[in-house]
Amino acid sequence: MPLIPDVDRHLQALEFSQKQVDRLVRQHPDYFPIYTVHGKWHHEGELWTDWTGGFLAGMMWQFALRTGSQPWHERAEHYSRLLEHRKFDRNVHDLGFIFLNTYLPWYQATGDRELREVLITAGRTLSLRFQHTGHYLCSFIGPQSLFIDIMMNVPLIFYAAKETGDDALYRIASEHCRTTRDRLVREDGSTAHEGLFDVETGAFIGQSTHQGLRPDSRWARGLAWSLYGFSKVYGLTGEQEFLDVAEQNAEFWVSHLPHDKVPYWDFDADLTAPLPWGPQKDSSAAAIAASGLLDLATQTTVPERAIVYRNTAMVMIDVLLDPEYLAQNTAGWEGILKHGVYHTKKGLGVDESVMWGEYFFVEALTKILSREP
Ligand code: GLY
Repeated sequence: MPLIPDVDRHLQALEFSQKQVDRLVRQHPDYFPIYTVHGKWHHEGELWTDWTGGFLAGMMWQFALRTGSQPWHERAEHYSRLLEHRKFDRNVHDLGFIFLNTYLPWYQATGDRELREVLITAGRTLSLRFQHTGHYLCSFIGPQSLFIDIMMNVPLIFYAAKETGDDALYRIASEHCRTTRDRLVREDGSTAHEGLFDVETGAFIGQSTHQGLRPDSRWARGLAWSLYGFSKVYGLTGEQEFLDVAEQNAEFWVSHLPHDKVPYWDFDADLTAPLPWGPQKDSSAAAIAASGLLDLATQTTVPERAIVYRNTAMVMIDVLLDPEYLAQNTAGWEGILKHGVYHTKKGLGVDESVMWGEYFFVEALTKILSREP
């Protein structure tokens, strides 16, 4: 049986989210933070890599398009413009995160062809990371490295390929997805964070990790990126092989969640170890997977799976609305969702609000409300 959403509770959470973002932009104009420190956004901490600007501006688009608010629309445009120069950025693999959450909704809302050009340029820039010997888009670490996270960015290349009819772009994006499936997605549907390749021969060396516990462990956010990324790619290509991977990931996800449906930062975390290695949750992984599962529920051709995906997403969002996760009753906390994690080993943004957790939480709530009759 599909679960019935609690519309009032969802609306209240979105209003709280708008309030938190409003306060952030008033306190720190034109600033794109990544994670909080003790619940406060402004910080001098290490970025590791600069990949999250599209999430703050993307929330503004979600607010503007749901409510029709002109002030949010103006803010969304302003913050998106601040990101435009990144369309030429060859240092990161994250251009999908930056442009698909900003210029795509902006273009879809206005039909302004200049915005479409920005998306196409960013897609072409991202495609330059393609390694022709190993058949993958390399991560910001270097040409030898493939990250699972790139599955959420490769849709930008498919988008550019479809808009321009450029078959070479389409091939690059498809080959990247197949290499990711073959090298990072395991038989049980779990994923590795990174794959390492010999850059001369393209030979696969092995699985590795930066943000997960171990090379052979199941980093929760990586699995969420894969599930949602393959689902997005299926949405753009209609290729069954990519839907199959998203469903494999979803199978692992739904059958390995802890009792409260919010994963620990790594499915292999030793829960007897002290924080952050032990029982540290990652609310951001739950928000990403919830948003992805809502889409996957509309894509699968198996009705029983559709119910499981949607219900799991609804329960995860419901749990995130609890004061344990939603910061509404936490005095002085500037983020929306507590108990997110950025980089455990580096000690960055551990047990904090993280900007992508905020974005996907808002996106999932907006999807649920927009799909209600
Ligand atoms: N670097 C992407 C992530 O932290 O998930």
